[in-house]
Amino acid sequence: MTEPRATLRLTAQDAPQAARLLAQGGLVAFPTETVYGLGANGLDPAAVDGIFAAKGRPQDNPLILHVPGPDHLARYCHPIPAAAYDLARRFWPGPLTIILPRRPLVPDAVTAGLDTVGMRCPDHPVALAILELCQLPVAAPSANTSGRPSPTTAQAVWEDMAGKIDAVVDGGPCAVGVESTILDLTVSPPRLLRPGGVTLEALREVLGPVEVDEAVVRLMSTDEKPRAPGMKYRHYAPKAPVTVVRGDPADTARYIARHLAPGVGVICFENYVNLFPRCPLRSLGPAGDLPEQARRLFEALRWFDSQDVTAIYAQSPADGGLGLAVTNRLNKAAGFHIIDL
Ligand code: TXA
Ligand code: MG
Repeated sequence: MTEPRATLRLTAQDAPQAARLLAQGGLVAFPTETVYGLGANGLDPAAVDGIFAAKGRPQDNPLILHVPGPDHLARYCHPIPAAAYDLARRFWPGPLTIILPRRPLVPDAVTAGLDTVGMRCPDHPVALAILELCQLPVAAPSANTSGRPSPTTAQAVWEDMAGKIDAVVDGGPCAVGVESTILDLTVSPPRLLRPGGVTLEALREVLGPVEVDEAVVRLMSTDEKPRAPGMKYRHYAPKAPVTVVRGDPADTARYIARHLAPGVGVICFENYVNLFPRCPLRSLGPAGDLPEQARRLFEALRWFDSQDVTAIYAQSPADGGLGLAVTNRLNKAAGFHIIDL
């Protein structure tokens, strides 16, 4: 057991202190545009081990490295295909993680022994300030306890991490709300391992053909080996079982209304809240507003853990554009328990 730590609450002005703590081997949660990350010096295996301990993360699940710009890629990766720079030019800083061959200086503690490493340049002023100041590749998974929904506010980080890490930097709520898109550039054609804020359509505009990994769209069994090891774990899941209802929004809302029973919670679009007057309910925002749905989803899933519900029904958006990321997280929360209307 590790001793409880005094966890500091820092603000955007404290980026220099956050950078110092990281350089000294500390664990610092910081905001990004996607979700809050739990950072450590990615060249310090002992510091990186601390991330796994604080999260209760399985050791076989690799971490991604955060850098302040594309000019840092060659320090940690080799060889780098031209496509990596094409993508970085178009989407960085932004919600895209690129899997590349690693250089030997990247420790096994980061990559879980893989010969590849995920690289990301986050689009958040506080994250970029910290990365510029410390001049280190910062290993950072989402700052949640393993298995819980990723935190999109400093308060959600605090719930999971207070007493386990050195500091939480509060940069307000995250603008995207779901984790970065992960693209594997070590295979041909490139393969989408996790959908996120950079859409599949936008990647195909730059790269041409991009394959979608099976783990994005279906439940992986425990003996299968997905290419993003993290995709096999039950994720984002509230304690109550979730059922996703897919189809035209007016139909899925009516379907859920017909199946209500005491103790059933609802995740629905703003347009339909009136159908569920007495239910524990979280709205995802308007049916047509995917960015708002992405921003609200994880807080909605977290909120249900504070409620006395036995089951949760959720309306699902369509899976085009950012909808692929929203539906992926929702379907994973439901263990891919989906009703198609
Ligand atoms: O938006 C994000 O990406 C956030 C913020 C903090 O940057 N980070 C994040 O990290 O979501 P994490 O660790 O929660 O998710 C990273 C995913 C995991 O599913 C992991 O298995 C996969 O990336 N991954 C990491 N390195 C990999 C590699 N070399 N090959 C394949 N998948 C990898
Ligand atoms: Mg995570």
